[in-house]
Amino acid sequence: MPRKASPLGSLLDAPPVRAAARALVEAVARESCARVLDAKAYERALGEIGRFRGRPLLFPALLAGAGSGARVRLANGRVLLDFIGGIGVYAFGHSEPDLLETAAVAAAVDTVFQGHLAPGSEYLRLSRTLLHHAGTRLRHVWLGTCGAIANENALKMIFQRRAPADRIVVFEHGFAGRTTTLAELTDKPGFREGLPLRGNVLHVPFYDHSDRHSTVRSVAALDAHLARYPGQIAGMLFELVQGEGGICTAPRSFFVALMERCRATGVAVWVDEVQTFARTGELFAFRTFELEPWVDLATAGKVLQGSAVLFSEEYNPREGLVAGTYAGSTVGMAVAARIIERLEAEGYLGRRGKLAALGRRVARRFAALRRRLPVAVSGCSGIGAMHAFVPFDGSRELAIAVLRACFEEGLFAFSAGAGPTKVRWLLPVNVTEEELDTGFAILEKALRRVGHERGLPC
Ligand SMILES: Cc1ncc(COP(=O)(O)O)c(C=O)c1O
Repeated sequence: MPRKASPLGSLLDAPPVRAAARALVEAVARESCARVLDAKAYERALGEIGRFRGRPLLFPALLAGAGSGARVRLANGRVLLDFIGGIGVYAFGHSEPDLLETAAVAAAVDTVFQGHLAPGSEYLRLSRTLLHHAGTRLRHVWLGTCGAIANENALKMIFQRRAPADRIVVFEHGFAGRTTTLAELTDKPGFREGLPLRGNVLHVPFYDHSDRHSTVRSVAALDAHLARYPGQIAGMLFELVQGEGGICTAPRSFFVALMERCRATGVAVWVDEVQTFARTGELFAFRTFELEPWVDLATAGKVLQGSAVLFSEEYNPREGLVAGTYAGSTVGMAVAARIIERLEAEGYLGRRGKLAALGRRVARRFAALRRRLPVAVSGCSGIGAMHAFVPFDGSRELAIAVLRACFEEGLFAFSAGAGPTKVRWLLPVNVTEEELDTGFAILEKALRRVGHERGLPC
């Protein structure tokens, strides 16, 4: 079915508008290149940030404009490879001209933010695009500002529909967000220290590749919860590739077995795609894994430059349950819609798409690195534009040492998981061979350096 022309798209395509946007973007790039902080001023700025926040940044990274592709420019003029992208936010890397021009035009349209009371055309365009990619069951979408708010909205829809059922099943090692409620759904005690708990969260083990009975064990755990709390379980949260948990995934049959149990017992199937959105092959991982028939609600964020919960007719809440001032920023919505259109138009999606191919390219490179450094590199996992591996023994201390060495050598990466702690990459979808060559070379150098400094074999 032909898609309707988008008002903002056509605005952006108007030659004088595009030319003005380009001129603005280029002027900003020129100016920001000219503004470099000397070492002292850079340290001072970092120190101030630390004081304002009450704790220092994990890495001495204060960003400036005029990055390029996977390369980010710091305010002291240093350029390094960014393989974590603000923890998965920048789909096409830094200073991508077309996205910045889209942002510049959207910024000049009317208001900086849009609400649910009187949304603009960007809201319509993004909602339409998201639903187009979500398949036929998810009929509605509610936009929001961040992953946590999308997840809160999903949770509320599930509780209202399934009331008085008030329990939620989650996977071990999962992550759902930072609100008081979501911190309880997140399987990390440190993330909820001191918070009052509701005690309504039930755990099921995630897939364990080393256990051939893993699916049976997880289904048995779910069955045990269902038997212990009949009629009291409202929903189950599925993170199809655990991001914060260490880029861990499972075969489709594992998810199908659990989702079938949910379907049979009236438990809502909720897929958290905040981190997987636009990273696994299709826009939604539940479509990459072909799980569409089971999904009742899906949440997305990060690459979406805001967030959204998509839901089936059955979960459409009564008036009053979900609202809030902001639906998102005009720039965020316009850029998100543009990102999705480009992923489609430039061949990133689908089994034979560039995202799937990127996953294979990166996995091959990790396999080669593991052959060269069999002690320092293990537990490689990944799909599309999200990858991780266990450095050395997987202790947090060594993982942080590797991340710091990478940063010093010129590569920005981040951690994921605990016991083992992994090194995580959330790559720009358009990362080049040269950027991957350089990134892997830096990673190898950093691993060898940490090994050498600590007398560890690599
Ligand atoms: C799977 C998942 N859910 C939810 C969130 C929370 O999103 P946000 O930080 O935008 O609130 C995250 C963030 O990392 C996530 O990875």
